Amino acid sequence: MRDDQSTFQKESPLSFGEGKGVRSRLPEVGTSIFSVMSKLALEHNAINLSQGFPDFAVSEVLVDLIHKNMNAGHNQYAPMPGVPALRKVISEVIEKTYQRATDFETEVTVTAGGTEAIFSTIAALVSAGDEVILFDPSYDCYDPAIRLNGGTPIHINLTAPDFSIDWQEVRDKVTSKTRMIMVNTPHNPSGAVLSELDLRELQEIALKNNLLVLSDEVYERIIFDDKKHESILKYPALANQIIAVFSFGKTFHATGWKVGYTVASPTLTTEIRKAHQFITFSVNTPTQFALAEYMAQPENYLSLGKFYQQKRDFFLQQIKGSSFKPLPCYGSYFQLLSYEGISQLSEKEMAVWMTKEKKLAPIPISVFYKDDTDQKILRFCFAKGEETLRKAGEILNQM
Ligand SMILES: Cc1ncc(COP(=O)(O)O)c(C=O)c1O
Repeated sequence: MRDDQSTFQKESPLSFGEGKGVRSRLPEVGTSIFSVMSKLALEHNAINLSQGFPDFAVSEVLVDLIHKNMNAGHNQYAPMPGVPALRKVISEVIEKTYQRATDFETEVTVTAGGTEAIFSTIAALVSAGDEVILFDPSYDCYDPAIRLNGGTPIHINLTAPDFSIDWQEVRDKVTSKTRMIMVNTPHNPSGAVLSELDLRELQEIALKNNLLVLSDEVYERIIFDDKKHESILKYPALANQIIAVFSFGKTFHATGWKVGYTVASPTLTTEIRKAHQFITFSVNTPTQFALAEYMAQPENYLSLGKFYQQKRDFFLQQIKGSSFKPLPCYGSYFQLLSYEGISQLSEKEMAVWMTKEKKLAPIPISVFYKDDTDQKILRFCFAKGEETLRKAGEILNQM
């Protein structure tokens, strides 16, 4: 048990030479849960369904396009906001998908993944003392990004089984200091999606209180059961106060490339670029050229929802006989399973125990809550080949 607990122990504040303490800006932050669980899975030779990355190949066409662009000499710094050809395709796709006309010169910025998009946005737009409302379980970079930039995160808990937002609670949490609301749809880790009704509530609150909305839509294409992704970009009344964040890592099975983008009004984009230019300056060039060509073909992204829905259904089929209970999952590539009837261990203990003893690594969703809310639920990534999912199913069925 000691081992299990120490796995999740937070790192101590930095120290700097004899007796000279360095004041950590994030003293209670340890190594990300994703790194911890992936490392544990490796050490114990466990199937790794913890970290959210696909284990199948990136399209050969896309890889060839990168080679082609490297050979064509596109190897020096890209323009700070992104390669124009890529931004142009992005704005065309946005217009086609969300019927929002977007000027690629002034409204689209290519970033080092969704993570940098979120950080640059917060760095540019949140000032010391500003409050930012976010919903837990939340992606792990949100809270530290707010605090590193002097803001105050205001966490609102969403709970199983549907993780829906109580908009009255949001209204109650808005104060004169509230600057921004962060939402994420489709949602990691729950797989919940926001409805049109949710977006209308959000719009009403944002307009009334003059709030910015940062909408993390990195799973925009991974949505199931004929649900439609409700992008914030479909709400023109909010045009001057929204920032939408996307990631090519999710859409093209290439999480390691770390390329994403923001879409925001020219005024907001000007500010975001001021931060972006000093955080990364620009994003790797040949990949941007390759993505521009690849994204121009709609068949390269339109089938993604169907592709992952099959994976979700295959995984659920494998665990039909299991005592683990699936929760509803309408998007992202994560399936939540409740083990309430199986064990009284905490989520963290259960995740570590399963990894060591059962050779299957999940993620405890309590780590996505500021207050460690424990609901006896684990997250499993189903962006994996069928053989891996079949083996994972066998393990879950035996427990
Ligand atoms: C909800 C959410 N937002 C943002 C990101 C970061 O995206 P990227 O890998 O492109 O930095 C992730 C990655 O897992 C995510 O799940």
